[in-house]
Amino acid sequence: MVTAIRPEPKAKLGPTQLLINNQWVESVSGKRFETINPATGEVICDVAEADAADVDRAVQAARQAFIRGEWAQLSPTHRGELLYKLADLIEANKEELARLETLDNGKPLNDSLNADLSLVIACYRYYAGWADKVQGKTIPINGPYFCYTRHEPVGVVGQIIPWNFPLLMQAWKLAPALAMGNTVVMKTAEQTPLSALRVGELILEAGFPPGVVNLLSGYGPTAGQAIARHHDIDKVAFTGSTEVGHLIMEAAAQTNLKRVTLELGGKSPNIVFADANFDQAIEGAHFSLFFNQGQCCCAGSRLFVEEKCYDEFVAKSVERARSRRVGDPFESNTEQGPQVDQEQFNKVMSYIESGQLEGAQMLCGGSRLGDRGYFIEPTVFADVSDGMKIAQEEIFGPVMSIIKFKDLDEVIERANNTMYGLAAGVWTQDITKVHAIANGVRAGTVWVNCYDVFDAAAPFGGFKQSGIGRELGEYGLQQYTETKTVTIKL
Ligand code: NAI
Ligand code: MG
Repeated sequence: MVTAIRPEPKAKLGPTQLLINNQWVESVSGKRFETINPATGEVICDVAEADAADVDRAVQAARQAFIRGEWAQLSPTHRGELLYKLADLIEANKEELARLETLDNGKPLNDSLNADLSLVIACYRYYAGWADKVQGKTIPINGPYFCYTRHEPVGVVGQIIPWNFPLLMQAWKLAPALAMGNTVVMKTAEQTPLSALRVGELILEAGFPPGVVNLLSGYGPTAGQAIARHHDIDKVAFTGSTEVGHLIMEAAAQTNLKRVTLELGGKSPNIVFADANFDQAIEGAHFSLFFNQGQCCCAGSRLFVEEKCYDEFVAKSVERARSRRVGDPFESNTEQGPQVDQEQFNKVMSYIESGQLEGAQMLCGGSRLGDRGYFIEPTVFADVSDGMKIAQEEIFGPVMSIIKFKDLDEVIERANNTMYGLAAGVWTQDITKVHAIANGVRAGTVWVNCYDVFDAAAPFGGFKQSGIGRELGEYGLQQYTETKTVTIKL
């Protein structure tokens, strides 16, 4: 006889309430919403749902914490120490957090652990180090005056993050804001609230003062909009769609002119010349598009390949896509999990349909995989032309579009023919081409013979409608400080 074995829970769940003023609380309305496991479509649990009233409470707590000054005026070294402590606690709970991320988002556990969590920990440590190293200048002005600048925190910062890298986006936003002495009201994405809340528990354990970090789960048009419109928030930092980026700026313009930084969508060109190391370019192009189920703002989603090697490149790319291992994200050899939710699944499938209707050649994939969860086959289109929807709009899924080009000048012009400007890649052995692309492409990041290389020290952000401002690195600090000029008569 076989006795039923209860399956091991895939991940330990953390808190499910809102974190306001260092207290776990229910929302004012008492409402909760469900979060789904995208690998099965089943409900994981429900979490407290923040709305405008909860945003108000969180902003009050953050404002009080800012005014009390125990954070901004705390010795910068001590702020750094708390961030180091948080990084250590995240590292100590790395495996557990990675499992929770995979459960809620669907990304392979290998990626959660080795990509997301590693970068998260490095990001908190990097900005911990900056906390006591930011300083103003003394400036020799005319007349009997002593003039200097102070770099002060902006104040209460609202942060709205997406679901594609939940823990990493939390780190990119929290770490520089806290290092510079701001207090924070953060809204996570409705698809993936869980991992951020577990970090909230670690924030309490690290000993951050009340009101410094407030974490809200909730929806965009309600809690998100309340943050964008709030009169007592000094700055809003947003990552997500370009469409909502417009709304955030509009809300800031209509209310208190809060500072706005935006990290938005992309349609990044990845350019392969015939002289490139072929195998590296094939694998690099595959990774640049399919990593994270294609759900990357900087995905190399316009793959330009030189005419001379186009056919061979397409054939090899199809072969590689066919061999991609899609399945249970908790399996150790899985390369691709499900899309994050039904809405994203539908969106990606509609782009696959549009590619076929507009006459691109679908050489592999194109269908749903399995009968539960939101899995999509790795899909490759060849003979894609610049005007097609799949070459213009952000698909955010495992759909590769391969476009042919003839020469350098032509490909730069075509690469720039988009409203986006987030990233670009180029694959060549020719230093002349490297410089021409690196200088000629209007994008915030250019990767040469590599792709998706991220480091907490290297700034990231967009030209054109891919965003405003930069995150990470020393540049990322500017977005979280105000410069004050002090002039003293001698
Ligand atoms: P979204 O831009 O609607 O959501 C991102 C965040 O903004 C979430 O926290 C959401 O709750 C919030 N939000 C939504 N509406 C808001 C509003 N009116 N005011 C304030 N906050 C609001 O993106 P969504 O719907 O999740 O995905 C749509 C598309 O956006 C994707 O298919 C993809 O193309 C793009 N996207 C880009 C991301 C990036 O990393 N740049 C991340 C996520 C999505
Ligand atoms: Mg949306």
